[in-house]
Amino acid sequence: MTTSPRKAVTAPHLAEMKNRGEKIAMITAYDATFAAIVDAAGVDVILVGDSVATTVQGEPNTIPVTMEEMEYHVRLVRRATPKALVVGDLPFGSYQVGASQAVSNSVRLIKAGAQAVKLEGGLTVADSVRAIADADIPVMGHIGLTPQSVHRMGGHKVQGRREGYEAGGRQRLLEDAHAVEQAGAFAVVLEGIPAHLAAEITAKLSIPTIGIGAGAQCDGQVLVLHDVLGLSTRELSFTKKFADVRSLSTDACRAYVAEVREGTWPDDAHSFE
Ligand code: KIV
Repeated sequence: MTTSPRKAVTAPHLAEMKNRGEKIAMITAYDATFAAIVDAAGVDVILVGDSVATTVQGEPNTIPVTMEEMEYHVRLVRRATPKALVVGDLPFGSYQVGASQAVSNSVRLIKAGAQAVKLEGGLTVADSVRAIADADIPVMGHIGLTPQSVHRMGGHKVQGRREGYEAGGRQRLLEDAHAVEQAGAFAVVLEGIPAHLAAEITAKLSIPTIGIGAGAQCDGQVLVLHDVLGLSTRELSFTKKFADVRSLSTDACRAYVAEVREGTWPDDAHSFE
């Protein structure tokens, strides 16, 4: 039996998935090799996340990664020609100045191959979300624990646990969610918030919510690839190691080193006459 080729996922497609009650699977990737692997696995969305700073570049947080570096990683992911929707993350400093900066840097990510962009923040970035959407660029919001706000939050802390309208308060998160929807975002990431609050936001919004550390009631889920594969050394309660690729990789390299030392690599089968 032949299976029909997978259709390319588009931003409007995700809204249809929410309406049909189908869960959306999103994962990060930063290069062509892994983009091809996650695409073959059937993910709906590949996020070229600014988490590249911690997963690939060895930085302690996402603050240092630059626009040029994000453009580069978006380009690598697009070279895999995935069917999944490719979303490029706007890094810290690429939209904080205002809406026109947000639009011009979104254009750069789209020209590099992204089919949509993502930025962090709610009420405070609503004008930028609107300006990006008005430029015909699908834009994804990201509220709750926003890693680019690490210095304001005083660490990577769960948000929405206390009442209030100040940043991080429960009512403020509801306002943030409403603001990005009204500004024209086609979806919103909910990160590091209590499951009951994520469920309430998901029920109130017409656009899909994609959770990470936000419980099972979101319309979709996102994880960082290096956590899924067990490549990262960080232990976070809200992620899951679906495989231990780090141990497999170390074992494979250890076996190679042993064969080189023993002189059994390369054998005749891997040598030229
Ligand atoms: O950069 C990233 O990986 C992200 C996800 C955690 C949502 O923004």
